[in-house]
Amino acid sequence: MPLHARIEAAVAAAIADGQSGSPPPRLASALQYAVTPGGARIRPTILLSVALACGDRRPALADAAAAALELIHCASLVHDDLPMFDDADVRRGKPSVHRAYSEPLALLTGDSLIVMAFDVLARAAVHDCAAAVELIRILAARTGMPGGICAGQGWESEAAVDLSAYHRAKTGALFIAATQMGAVAAGQEAEPWEELGARIGEAFQVADDLRDALYDSETLGKPAGQDAIHARPNAVAALGVQGAIRRLNDILAGAIASIPSCPGEAMLAAMVRKTAERLTPVAPVRARA
Ligand code: IPE
Ligand code: IPE
Ligand code: MG
Ligand code: MG
Repeated sequence: MPLHARIEAAVAAAIADGQSGSPPPRLASALQYAVTPGGARIRPTILLSVALACGDRRPALADAAAAALELIHCASLVHDDLPMFDDADVRRGKPSVHRAYSEPLALLTGDSLIVMAFDVLARAAVHDCAAAVELIRILAARTGMPGGICAGQGWESEAAVDLSAYHRAKTGALFIAATQMGAVAAGQEAEPWEELGARIGEAFQVADDLRDALYDSETLGKPAGQDAIHARPNAVAALGVQGAIRRLNDILAGAIASIPSCPGEAMLAAMVRKTAERLTPVAPVRARA
């Protein structure tokens, strides 16, 4: 089965579980709205690519890990768009969850997705109990404090922020979860996979900063120019456009060099190259009006 089909099936199964019985209909609908149609599904794609490169010994565990990671990511976007964070009206080309439903329902949607992610992993313990516990621990570490996406968002409330620490937590954390969870789901050690995830995550955030600065909101499917509006530390402000593009390419070269040796090493290098092509803004970049 192609990776995207595995991801959609695993995410759909998780959401269906969360809507079973007689739940409050609007919240049940908001859960579905928040995760489908998805965005690029880049984190679960990386996770399954690493699992495959390591032999994909337990595909059901890898699918659960992919769904759990994407649910956390979707939850983070729902919360991130709320007025008390980025106050964004559009996400993935449609009204953000609080605009389509309400602020209370958006808060509860994010909360429910986070809980659901860990439930998916707990249920996957039937396939391999020890591996499932490790997956839960990795995802928890990369979601919460002190180094997960909560910490990353928390840096926005500090007076002084180190750009790379902020990006490592806000964005890099879930990419590290992606590579490590893919390896663990396939029966490998997590530790050797941290560097690859960190490097892809760093490149991803630099690319996101470039797109935020250079593209319009129609192209992005979400508000553009947000980093400048909210005075967020970002790679374009720190390095300029060309400097940020150079930085992106340097990081990706380092990412390829850091792939641990495994049966699917060449396939993973190709996956990183393909991701790089997709992330790099195309020249000539149209400046935002
Ligand atoms: C957006 O992530 C949030 C950041 C960390 C920059 P994505 O660009 O992966 O969002 P979707 O899932 O494709 O919409
Ligand atoms: C979102 O970062 C990161 C998390 C939700 C953890 P941004 O605020 O920079 O991403 P976009 O631009 O809204 O997708
Ligand atoms: Mg934000
Ligand atoms: Mg945002």
